Amino acid sequence: MNKSAYMEVLMMSMTGTGLAQDAGAIRLPPPETAGGMPLMQALKERHSAREFDSKPLPLQLLSNLLWAAGGVNRPSGHRTAPTARDWREIDVLAITADGAYRYDPPTHALVKVAAGDLRSLTGTQDFVASAPLNLVYVADFDRMNGAHAENKLFYSATDTGFMAQNVYLYCASAGLAVVVRGLVDRDALAAALGLGAHQRVILAQTVGYPAGSAQ
Ligand SMILES: Cc1cc2nc3c(=O)[nH]c(=O)nc-3n(C[C@H](O)[C@H](O)[C@H](O)COP(=O)(O)O)c2cc1C
Repeated sequence: MNKSAYMEVLMMSMTGTGLAQDAGAIRLPPPETAGGMPLMQALKERHSAREFDSKPLPLQLLSNLLWAAGGVNRPSGHRTAPTARDWREIDVLAITADGAYRYDPPTHALVKVAAGDLRSLTGTQDFVASAPLNLVYVADFDRMNGAHAENKLFYSATDTGFMAQNVYLYCASAGLAVVVRGLVDRDALAAALGLGAHQRVILAQTVGYPAGSAQ
């Protein structure tokens, strides 16, 4: 490990989530792609929860979660979730107390897109401000080559559903509380995130340890 990589790891280990540093991109540890709960059991346990502990999520868990949402799972670059015509038009943003980050699947890294704690802007329900992580699914309509304008929202909403369900199943397996959310002030959040006219907030999803479970 070279010196700057070592410093990055050191800085990550000094914070709750490892995301407090103002780095351009934060490499995530490789996802743990073996083990976990058997699929049928995860399906049995999947449910929405709306009470979260505020304890930050460790970087390894974040790595696993984001990979489940839409990470690269084949040498071809294809993802854990399907997208219509392989457009890969959905960006997953991770909104934590430390800032807003875009998950970059090819490099399995987080790229900072906004500073400060924007959690309260990710939804209209109280728990979004204190839960450690809110994912925001953002469609980039410019990537949807050949799609009719009226179909862009339809397909990007569909594609988001697959990703959100992957997160639900990972959370069931990892014992995390999670709820996908449409109750979002999309204009306010888009402005805070600096989104362009070609981008659209589709859904948000809150993740954390179940209330009262974290030590
Ligand atoms: C597209 C979509 C939008 C949703 N929006 C919200 C929301 O804004 N707030 C919320 O608390 N739950 C939201 N939910 C969660 C549903 O209320 C929940 O899935 C439903 O009550 C069934 O419960 P279950 O997920 O435990 O099976 C949403 C679910 C979906 C699929």
